[in-house]
Amino acid sequence: MVSVVRYHEISESSHLIMNPLSLEKLLLVGDICHVGQGTRLLDLACGKGEMLCRFASDLGASGVGIDNHAPFLADARARAAELGAESAVTFIEGDAGAPPDLGGRFGAVSCIGATWIGGGLLGTLELMGRWVEPGGWLLVGEVYWSEPPPPQIEQKYGAGEFADLAGTLDRFDAAGMDLVEIILASSDDWDRYAASQWLNVSDWLVANPDDADAAEVRQLRDTSRRDYLAHERRCLGWGVFVLRARV
Ligand SMILES: C[S@@+](CC[C@H](N)C(=O)[O-])C[C@H]1O[C@@H](n2cnc3c(N)ncnc32)[C@H](O)[C@@H]1O
Repeated sequence: MVSVVRYHEISESSHLIMNPLSLEKLLLVGDICHVGQGTRLLDLACGKGEMLCRFASDLGASGVGIDNHAPFLADARARAAELGAESAVTFIEGDAGAPPDLGGRFGAVSCIGATWIGGGLLGTLELMGRWVEPGGWLLVGEVYWSEPPPPQIEQKYGAGEFADLAGTLDRFDAAGMDLVEIILASSDDWDRYAASQWLNVSDWLVANPDDADAAEVRQLRDTSRRDYLAHERRCLGWGVFVLRARV
């Protein structure tokens, strides 16, 4: 059986940012949080590390990224070298839900598109809160329902796992966090993220017609493409939520 991470390795082979956020919006996140010289960031489940590498190379920040998938970290280190940011960023392989000793707190802590690492949104906020300096920024990339989903789509993501925007705000309130900004993905951002995966899978199938996983990879792509066009493009939202602990 093809694992989720194997499928994403193939479907997101061309992606530097593994979520529906344009590079322009990713840099906007940095501007909003005044990321600059002297800012130290911790990125939990950093994937290929584009955010950290860009914040280091373009804005002068430094930081640590943790991910549990070694091939993504290899890409992250190569990207840091390509952007001349290798001395400013460190990538650690491990469980982002249980970080090792990182030598103190950070001015910003992010978890972009992986809130399962802390057992859901609330647990991940609690985890992030342990690593952020007083008054520092928490950046959470999270799904929300822009329209009520049909039951089979809600089931796919886990019943009650996500809420609409107001319900998501309620969850931040319950965690003692102040929502101070949002950067939401547009339909076009979603298309760039989702549709580019169809092409990556198609390219992979052309290059690997005899791979033992080919039929299953095609099936996974076909199902996700249909879900996207039939429902998710309409009802699935995604954004980076900028938070501060309530004072
Ligand atoms: C949707 S991707 C997002 C990556 C990155 N934050 C980005 O936006 O480009 C989710 C990432 O979480 C990583 N991941 C999943 N579970 C993890 C865990 N328990 N600890 C560390 N990384 C994890 C995956 O390897 C993957 O890189």
